Amino acid sequence: MNRPLSSLEFMSAFSAKLEHALQNLAIAQYPPDARREMRKFSPTEVAALLEVTDAYVRQTILKEPGITPEINNLNGRRHYSLDQILELRLLLAERGRKKWMNPRRAGEEKCQILAVTNFKGGSSKTSTTIHLGHYLALKGYRVLAVDLDPQASLTALHGTLPDFDPREGETLYAAIRFEDTKPTQDLIHRTHITGFHVICAGLDLIEFETTVALDMSKRGGVSFLSRVTNALEQVADDYDVILMDSAPSLNFLTLSSLTAATGVIIPVPAHMLDVDSTGKFLELAANYMQVLSGAGAPAKWDFAKFLVTKFEPNDAPQANMMALMRQVFSEDLLLNMVIKSTAVADALTFKQSLYELQRSRFSAPKTYDRAMESINAANAEIEKLLWTAWGREWA
Ligand SMILES: Nc1ncnc2c1ncn2[C@@H]1O[C@H](COP(=O)(O)OP(=O)(O)O)[C@@H](O)[C@H]1O
Ligand SMILES: [Mg+2]
Repeated sequence: MNRPLSSLEFMSAFSAKLEHALQNLAIAQYPPDARREMRKFSPTEVAALLEVTDAYVRQTILKEPGITPEINNLNGRRHYSLDQILELRLLLAERGRKKWMNPRRAGEEKCQILAVTNFKGGSSKTSTTIHLGHYLALKGYRVLAVDLDPQASLTALHGTLPDFDPREGETLYAAIRFEDTKPTQDLIHRTHITGFHVICAGLDLIEFETTVALDMSKRGGVSFLSRVTNALEQVADDYDVILMDSAPSLNFLTLSSLTAATGVIIPVPAHMLDVDSTGKFLELAANYMQVLSGAGAPAKWDFAKFLVTKFEPNDAPQANMMALMRQVFSEDLLLNMVIKSTAVADALTFKQSLYELQRSRFSAPKTYDRAMESINAANAEIEKLLWTAWGREWA
């Protein structure tokens, strides 16, 4: 049969057209020279971040010489930068007012490497990673987020980064490929958020699959698995937490990230299809893990937890699914869930996390509050897991 449509022409015509259109859109939203800047924080927000009272902030800390706030000419309100909040935090820590005021790891505590993973697309992996990462950075941790999804959604959330072109810039692949490997340090980009660094993603991450297949056919074995671990180890000293945002697939790169991980977060929406697909993900992952164990490379974690995302409490089928998940996963399901919220969806559309947006920017601040409350609670629960892994007592 002579069919008229050439698959090659179809794919390549639309790939070129789409790339062009998306590039124009990106330039319109973020001109290449437009550097992102993190918002400033009110004294009340400073108090919340430092976990001290408003009164304490107003009476004591904000009189600290050398930390001069930005003062709004119109209303006289003071605002502080994230750098200044960090400075305050370290100052308070020095005065020893509260244990772990400076939450950075100390002594024997090892860098925690978390894989946020699930092979279902749209299960909130990227949203979970960015919100957890920003939460931890705002709390004073040193965070590195590694984008391992060739679709580069996490990378795109940073707008224009100096020295990184999403089509040509180097990804973690440069540090894990078999030849001409680069030091991981060279792939790290600072962002507009103090304490939050990123390794970007791009299509070249896909090449890891072919190079690994080639290496296995030549040499056999599963030594490729340690490549991500080794790459991250090079920089782990500089961070308290490394977060890996995964691609929606269970391939060599995902397996390597699960091997490098010290903890795993599996975001799952409470929908029949998502839960079903998560079950298949676990089954497949278990099969691979068995092979790896057999090959002497078992992955061991401090914890692995399911997190319900995009939850709509008033939706009866979801509430039922939630009950089922509670029963099946029991204590391996985080107690807090992230609710579905237009505030989150809107923020992500503008390539920002909720932490980057001022409450006053929302026409319905209550919506923002509810979303923030649920995200903060889930993040605090994960923070507590980090503390447990470090052997700290949660205050
Ligand atoms: N809590 C939430 N409320 C509303 N929309 C959300 C929420 N979390 C994620 N989304 C939306 O769901 C979609 C998929 O989320 P994303 O984090 O990109 O998933 P993944 O990385 O697993 O593919 C995105 O369009 C995002 O805006
Ligand atoms: Mg994603």
